[in-house]
Amino acid sequence: MEKTILLVDDEKDIREVLRLPLTDLGYEVIEAENGADAFHLFARLQPPMILTDIKMPGMDGLELLQKVKRANPEVEVIMITGHGDMELAVKSLKYDATDFITKPINVDVLEIAVQRAAERILTREKLREYTLNLERLVAEKSELQSHLSSLGLMLGSISHALKGLLTGLDAGVYLVDGGLAKGDTRQLREGWEIVKQRFDRIRKVVLDILFYSKKREVKPERMNAAALAEEVVSAVAGKLTEAGIAFVKDLDPGSGELEVDPTYVQAALLNILENAADACQAGETKRTPKVAFSLRRRKDRLEFDILDNGVGMDAGTQDKLFTPFFSSKGDKGTGLGLFIANKIVEQHGGEISVSSAPGRGSLFRVSLPAVSRAAAPENGGGIPGAEHPRLVKTPAAEKVLT
Ligand SMILES: Nc1ncnc2c1ncn2[C@@H]1O[C@H](COP(=O)(O)OP(=O)(O)OP(=O)(O)O)[C@@H](O)[C@H]1O
Ligand SMILES: [Mg+2]
Repeated sequence: MEKTILLVDDEKDIREVLRLPLTDLGYEVIEAENGADAFHLFARLQPPMILTDIKMPGMDGLELLQKVKRANPEVEVIMITGHGDMELAVKSLKYDATDFITKPINVDVLEIAVQRAAERILTREKLREYTLNLERLVAEKSELQSHLSSLGLMLGSISHALKGLLTGLDAGVYLVDGGLAKGDTRQLREGWEIVKQRFDRIRKVVLDILFYSKKREVKPERMNAAALAEEVVSAVAGKLTEAGIAFVKDLDPGSGELEVDPTYVQAALLNILENAADACQAGETKRTPKVAFSLRRRKDRLEFDILDNGVGMDAGTQDKLFTPFFSSKGDKGTGLGLFIANKIVEQHGGEISVSSAPGRGSLFRVSLPAVSRAAAPENGGGIPGAEHPRLVKTPAAEKVLT
């Protein structure tokens, strides 16, 4: 329809005379012999340009012009007027006709009128394209700006965390240097311990950042939930016991399957278990430090509960848990652990909910969608996953918190 023109005149001869130059200009010409037919054709074919006689029996050119403009104000309508129809011609301009040409029609004048109308159509299209582009550019720019500012924030926090660790490293290096100079093995060993410890932390921070910043592929596999949890246990149980923390494991082997990338989900669970261990070791406690790790199925969700009887958290801390670089552990924590764990769990269609009481302990519940099984025997029941975990309701919790 790009180069189509609707030619309307009640005189067949005139239509024939006009068709030729229009075809020469590259237009496909549709013809109508009265206003009513013309409007029908217009409604059906939506030509961008109309050339119409003003005086016609029935619906005349002026009426057609008004109807067409009402339907689509962007259509270019050129009027053909007879000698002495000046009044009508002026009226048509008021109704927003593009131009008028008078009979007898001079082909050059016709061409100029048609080409001018074509240019207007083109300009309008360009303007529309330009506006669209502009809108897209503006949207892209503001997206980029927000990316940049969050990147800036991120870089600021990373630098701050690394700077702290480097200061600690400096202290270690200073001790080592002194120890070497004096041949003082005790100081040497002391400095070396600090260097090693800081080195480990820096490595962990960098790996965490890499873990988060890399767009890695998630490769979900269908697997037994209890088996996945057992692997997490084998990675932490030793460390927990070594630190003097009693570890309670309560994994329901019949809880079913999930479809996750095990590397990711295990990393998330490990982060939470590490925090539980840290919480047990922070502050002075009279109780035996305990951590419980349990798994059970609740309807179509699998719930991994990590419970500790450590320091717990006040409301302020709970609000900021998942914020990157929020840590209460000074230079022993980076504050990326839960941020990453939360991202991973979200990515797998799950959620982490938390319940905690200062001085009593914390419960982190990772709820992930289970692979549905036909006629699943439900254990647990009640309201599914979204329910807020409570500190003392599960069997494992009884063992840890009492
Ligand atoms: N089980 C818990 N008990 C008490 N506080 C917790 C517990 N888990 C997390 N927190 C609080 O949330 C903060 C953020 O945890 P997160 O794992 O993100 O960072 P982090 O442990 O400080 O550092 P890292 O990046 O090494 O994990 C912790 O510093 C701590 O204050
Ligand atoms: Mg942590």
